[in-house]
Amino acid sequence: MLIRASLLSAPSLQELRFEADGGLVVDGKGSITDAGAFEAVSARHPGMVVEDLRPFWILPGLVDLHAHLPQYEAVAADGLELLPWLERHIFPAEARFADGAHARATARTYLRDALSLGTTTTVLYATIHAEATDAIFQEAEACGIRAVIGKTMMDRHAPGSLREDTETSLRDSEELCRAWHGRDGGRLQYAFTPRFAPSCSRELMLGAGRLAQKYGAFIQTHLAENLQELEWVRELFPEADSYTDVYRRFGLLGSRTLLGHGIHLAPAERRVLRESGSHLIHCPSSNAFLQSGIMPLRKWLGEGLSVGLGTDVGAGPSLSMFREMGEACTASKLRRAAQTVQTARLSQVPGLSEEQKLLVAGALDLDPQPALDAVGAFHLATRGGAEALGLGDRLGRLEPGFDADFLVVDIRQADPLKRVSADPAHVLSRLVYRSDPHLVQAAYVRGRRCFHRSGT
Ligand code: GUN
Ligand code: ZN
Repeated sequence: MLIRASLLSAPSLQELRFEADGGLVVDGKGSITDAGAFEAVSARHPGMVVEDLRPFWILPGLVDLHAHLPQYEAVAADGLELLPWLERHIFPAEARFADGAHARATARTYLRDALSLGTTTTVLYATIHAEATDAIFQEAEACGIRAVIGKTMMDRHAPGSLREDTETSLRDSEELCRAWHGRDGGRLQYAFTPRFAPSCSRELMLGAGRLAQKYGAFIQTHLAENLQELEWVRELFPEADSYTDVYRRFGLLGSRTLLGHGIHLAPAERRVLRESGSHLIHCPSSNAFLQSGIMPLRKWLGEGLSVGLGTDVGAGPSLSMFREMGEACTASKLRRAAQTVQTARLSQVPGLSEEQKLLVAGALDLDPQPALDAVGAFHLATRGGAEALGLGDRLGRLEPGFDADFLVVDIRQADPLKRVSADPAHVLSRLVYRSDPHLVQAAYVRGRRCFHRSGT
């Protein structure tokens, strides 16, 4: 198949690649075998049938690295910070996943909605329920999305209906991993999912780390999201130097580890994360919604930390990664604006020495870098996400040798007057800041069309 359309991708945080009249060849195995200017590509493939999609644009599929599928029905339950929000709104929704039929129906809706908004790769928390987790895997297998999924593990500090014993949690998780990890040529993968340190015993975390190692599976959990949570972790793990050190001690860090949030991190923790090759998942809409804080994203990136993007539904109110990209830019700008004000105020405090000012700047994680822009956010949501999953050589680019995970986007939906434009930077900025739910016309994973907007 030779597709004709404009091609847009972001190979790095600063770089946009655009082909106004592009051609993309996808083979029967779902790989991109040729890409570039349409004239040149079509000349290399004489006689190949052309699917002319103009004026639509082709973008790499979006990667949502952190979301809770069972929380979909509880999105936008406002008014509380993390810990009381979990108790009041989230645990009751997760308890309902004891009903396998409800889990399956929610999964079907969730995955369809995610694809319709451009997510072709999703990393999901299920609940503690093995049957529900299995149903989510089955629905992901059927609809064609690329997914990393894990049964949430909790053996303490959870309501009775969501608390497991340690052995059962490890056994059920291992069984699910054996059944699903690597299924369909690696399209589906397993993540051992100890929810977060407060809801896991030491034995559970140790066991999860060992099993992930044994099967080459992912590990996902939450890290340093909320100040109350940090205090609780300090009380529960007095032997650890920090929140990050808890996970290090129990063998949960490494290049297959995805850590949600990571907002409040001391320099020593950042060093451990960097050296272990662990990945932080920035969830800006959730961080705003639960008033958790604003990640110093540019500072973390500048220090060499690996960071991807996630919606964190249901603390994030939307499944749209376009919207999440916009939220990431807005959060970065707000942090920068606050910093400008703080720095100005600091300079006006009488009697502060330069040394004291530097100490304050360090404590506030002040960041000299400019705010994240749409190109950077697009990179994080595509190639950056692929790299966090160890798929940087397969996903996130529109180039030969990469898997054909891509979106067909109607850029007119983001234009106030519904016009076509050839200014890639401005169009991208509009896609990100005006994330219209009708942008995506079709979504492909490994060349298979998994979503198609009817009527186009
Ligand atoms: N920390 C532990 N569990 C959760 C959760 O479900 N959502 C968020 N945002 N943070 C968590
Ligand atoms: Zn989360």
